[in-house]
Amino acid sequence: MTRDSTDAMDMFAHVFDNFVASAWHDRQSKLHNAIRYCLEGDGKRVRARLALMVCASYGQDPRRALSAGAAVEMVHAYSLAHDDLPCMDNDDYRRGRPSLHKAFDEVTALLAGDAILTDAMRVVADAEFFPDGAFVNDGEKIRLVRELSLAAGGHGMVLGQDLDMFWTGRGHCDKGTLDRIHKCKTGALIGGACAMGAISGGAPSEHVTRWRRFGVLVGLAFQAIDDILDIHEMTGKTKGKDHDQGKLTYLSLHGCEEVQSMVHAYTEEAVGLIPAGLDADVVVSYVRELIGRKK
Ligand code: IPE
Ligand code: IPE
Ligand code: MG
Ligand code: MG
Ligand code: MG
Repeated sequence: MTRDSTDAMDMFAHVFDNFVASAWHDRQSKLHNAIRYCLEGDGKRVRARLALMVCASYGQDPRRALSAGAAVEMVHAYSLAHDDLPCMDNDDYRRGRPSLHKAFDEVTALLAGDAILTDAMRVVADAEFFPDGAFVNDGEKIRLVRELSLAAGGHGMVLGQDLDMFWTGRGHCDKGTLDRIHKCKTGALIGGACAMGAISGGAPSEHVTRWRRFGVLVGLAFQAIDDILDIHEMTGKTKGKDHDQGKLTYLSLHGCEEVQSMVHAYTEEAVGLIPAGLDADVVVSYVRELIGRKK
């Protein structure tokens, strides 16, 4: 990442952490404590980074994408809290510590997730939330909320989670089905993050569509690597969980090296979708770096 992007991410972390501490400040409330726990976890913040970088590729101040980045990280954090629940992946660890329902209880984890998802929409709608909120006009805000809802809801991440659960324990599915699951459960939100970054940067709608497709492919590659890491690395989650639970992953269909080369191909296909004439080198090197990540 360049110095500018690093600075923007440092600022994002600072603004986001302050927001979380002040927005759910009632220390007596189990719900507020759970929301803070969920949002303060040590995540990589890939989706916010992408939103800020895509915005910056339009020569704009990446701070324009702060609210988009915050909202998308909130939706992502809620999706992880619900993903870990006993009725879904039943995972006791997340981001190197007990998952939300283990640190609190199932009801609180469910409700904290509900609250975070709902409040994420307000973060986009609320022009005064960030110091530079004045940059975002009402038309842009509607487009951002729409993009986030599309990515998160019944045509995006939640549909992917439903398909993932349907196929769990079934032993086999074809590659097309697995691509669809991964594009929905992980690609949709990363696609939304990139599209929201483009909207924040003032991109025309045909660019927004390209960035969405870019992000879906990056998300597909990202999830394929997540499938590999589940077996091979210490990720702050329970190791080997996918296999133990009968999850269908790319490793159910292909060998590790084959999956790696598919990931390279998806990433380069994504890079090919970036609209011409932008200053997008930072985005390109970041998505290539993601292939080699260890957590
Ligand atoms: C984990 O996402 C779930 C997947 C979609 C693979 P991340 O790997 O981005 O999780 P954090 O935010 O860094 O914890
Ligand atoms: C989850 O995929 C994707 C989400 C939408 C949360 P996984 O179930 O593989 O994510 P991890 O491995 O638990 O982070
Ligand atoms: Mg899952
Ligand atoms: Mg899981
Ligand atoms: Mg996983």
